[in-house]
Parts: sequence; C-alpha cells; structure tokens
Amino acid sequence: TDRYCVFGHPVGHSKSPAIHAAFADQAGDDIEYVAIEAPLDDFAGAWRRFVAEGGRGANVTVPFKEDAFHLCDTLSERARRAGAVNTLVLGSNGLTYGDTTDGVGLVRDLKRHGVELTGARILVLGAGGAVRGVLEPLLAEEPAGLRVANRTAAKAEALAADFRDLGEIVGGGFDAVEGAYDLVINGTSASLAGDLPPLPDNLLAPDASAYDMMYGAEPTVFLRWAAERGAHIVDGLGMLVEQAAESFFQWRGRHPDTAPVLEKLRQVL
Ligand code: ATR
Repeated sequence: TDRYCVFGHPVGHSKSPAIHAAFADQAGDDIEYVAIEAPLDDFAGAWRRFVAEGGRGANVTVPFKEDAFHLCDTLSERARRAGAVNTLVLGSNGLTYGDTTDGVGLVRDLKRHGVELTGARILVLGAGGAVRGVLEPLLAEEPAGLRVANRTAAKAEALAADFRDLGEIVGGGFDAVEGAYDLVINGTSASLAGDLPPLPDNLLAPDASAYDMMYGAEPTVFLRWAAERGAHIVDGLGMLVEQAAESFFQWRGRHPDTAPVLEKLRQVL
C-alpha cells in the first residue's frame, strides 16, 4: 500500500482524503491517504517522519505551502513562480520534488465550464498566495490582458511585475479598475468574512463569467453580486477537485475522472 497524506493546521476539515480515496477507487488502486496536522514550527520534520514511515507523497495546505516550497530538492517551474508548493513527491532517488497544481486546477475547471480564456479580458481580485499560485497557468492561456486588483495596491503592482515576462499583466488598487471584463476571478479571502471588494457596477462584459476560489453550500457574496448583474457564476469546488486530480497524476501517472467525484462532493456541501 502506497501512503500519501495532506498536511495542514488545522486539517480536520480537509476534503482531500475523501477525494483521493474516490480517485483510487476508480481503478482499484491500493493507496492509503490520511490527514496529518503538522506542527506550526516544524513542517520539514513532519515530512521527514512521514517519509521514514513509508510516505510517497503529500498535499500541502494552509499554512505550510511556503514551508513546503523551501524544503524541496527540486521544483517545477510553476512552483518556482508561485513561491509555493501544494504537492510533494518523493522521487526514487530519495529527493523531494515540489509542484503546485492550484493554477492548472483553476484553468481546467474554467474550461470545463466552457469559459474561454484565450483572448479574454481577465480581472483577478487579490494579491496573496492564492493569486500568485494561479497567474502562470492563466497567462499561458494568452488572455488579451490580465489585471490584478487588490485592497493594498502596492502588492498587486509588485505581483504583476513578477509575472510581466509571461504576458500582458498589470496590477493596482480596486479604484484603478475600469472597463469591462469577460472573466472576474475572486482570489481574496474577503468571501470568508462575507465582504465584497469595492467594485465598479459596470465591470462585467455581456456573457461575462465570475469565479470565486472559495466555495460553500451557498454562493459567496461576490458570486451573488455577479449573478445579479447577469454573469455566469462558478465557485471553487471544481478547482479543489481538479488540483487534487493533478496531484494524483503526479504520484500515480493516471488522470482520474473528476466529474463523479465533484458531483458527490457537491451533494454533501
Ligand atoms: P491567501 O493565501 O488566501 O491568498 P493571503 O496571502 O493572506 O491569503 O491574501 C489574502 C488576500 O485577500 C489579500 O489580497 C488581501 O488583501 P490585502 O493584500 O490588501 O490584505 C485580500 N483580502 C482579505 N480580506 C479582504 C477584505 N475584507 N476585502 C478585500 N480584500 C481582502
């Protein structure tokens, strides 16, 4: 039995064990996947112990994605860009490889919903770790332009500067947002507090889509705002399942079928 886990703190609420168990079941794959609460001051030690006990790979969630980034022996290019790792893979050479699958997860979920990215005008709200992790895969789709807007404008400007070599990207405050967008992605944690970033009313182009990286039983305040203005709305549950699928692929070399797993999760939200 190959062993995997998700590290977090807290981690009890994680849906990853159920998702990966479902992926494994699809092919009768014999794996074990557990949730481990790592100590806040010794993430590297938790990974080393897991490996010593036969662990082959792990997912990493809040607040350890940067710790995971720093302990890796080798990194994917997208993880290097993101400055964060959500997937650890133990190589046959004993070295630890780190990847981040959040961005591919977002892009796959958007495509699954029929959202056109190439040539689109994209607005991303927020400039924290969650947003940094998805910019490279979004820019790889060659949007017409991508604006990052954040409460703290300087953070969005700095973030945009870090990715400027990859495509048309600018950053600024919410007050600098003007014009119409085909896709608005909320990557702030404002939804958690039930807050809505201050957005101009005429932001959404006809047929626009709005995506919130958060999810819940009810649409977030951002998604309700967008739906009232005619946008097609999508929450982040599909991104969660798609990033898990990409991690599973890194470990097992097989792409799981995400649709039935997502459907089941949706029913029990
Ligand atoms: P994460 O890893 O989830 O991205 P983070 O790095 O702490 O977490 O970033 C949180 C993001 O949500 C930031 O962009 C933050 O804006 P600031 O950089 O100005 O702090 C944004 N955010 C959090 N609460 C918000 C709120 N109530 N309104 C608007 N933006 C908010």
